[in-house]
Amino acid sequence: MTLLKLRRVEKHFGGLPAVAGVDLDVAQGEIVALVGPNGAGKSTLLKAISGLQPPTRGSIEFDGRRIEGLGAHDVRRLGIAMVLQTPRSFESMNVLENVALGALFGSPGSRPRVDRARDRATAMLEFVGLGDRAHEEVGNLTLHQQRFLELARALAGNPRLLLLDEVMAGLNDTELQASIDMVRTARDELGLTVIWVEHVMKAVMSLAERIVVLNFGTILADGEPHQVMTDPNVVAAYLGDEIDTHV
Ligand SMILES: Nc1ncnc2c1ncn2[C@@H]1O[C@H](COP(=O)(O)OP(=O)(O)O)[C@@H](O)[C@H]1O
Ligand SMILES: [Mg+2]
Repeated sequence: MTLLKLRRVEKHFGGLPAVAGVDLDVAQGEIVALVGPNGAGKSTLLKAISGLQPPTRGSIEFDGRRIEGLGAHDVRRLGIAMVLQTPRSFESMNVLENVALGALFGSPGSRPRVDRARDRATAMLEFVGLGDRAHEEVGNLTLHQQRFLELARALAGNPRLLLLDEVMAGLNDTELQASIDMVRTARDELGLTVIWVEHVMKAVMSLAERIVVLNFGTILADGEPHQVMTDPNVVAAYLGDEIDTHV
């Protein structure tokens, strides 16, 4: 079943197209890696889907419903959660409170009561392995733990589609593997669909089941990982960029 369907999606900033006509179908349960050189439009595309920066043109259909005109809040309530490149936790709240916010503002249907939000938040903290850090200040967490906190907050909103923007940057090998396992487990156990922007090729090649390459705001390649990453057009697009497609 197609969960997400993009047609001719464009996003312009002051006349310049950052996303220049993207057609993309994502099936329920897929893990899709979105890769491409810096400035290719990856973050802009995710933000267009999530309603943070609605597209200039084109249509976005989620679960059979047009969403391109909706704001971020409404998109989230329909079941699309995004984890941004830079952590956005509130330093004045502890770990659990941060995650509870995700439960309060994300859930589809009627807004849950605060105690239910806390229960959901606790469950999601356990899920990402931060159960014992619930009452910690956010500032005391490592980068890796902060990323998992952001993930828990996204999951607390009970999404069906999870958009991740370079959430594995700056992690060591052990943390990277834990993150890869976590995304796969989230898909398998919570029934999620994942679109995930990533620069760390090792992570892409071990987690992605499909790779979409964006270049100058358009799709350059889309398909099975090894095939895509050895495509001469893709290799050429990455020239000058640090990339290791050897696996
Ligand atoms: N808010 C913005 N205002 C103006 N230009 C932007 C804005 N966000 C992104 N861009 C431009 O859009 C292009 C794509 O950016 P981005 O989506 O961040 O690329 P990527 O995530 O692939 O590195 C870049 O040229 C960038 O400078
Ligand atoms: Mg980006």
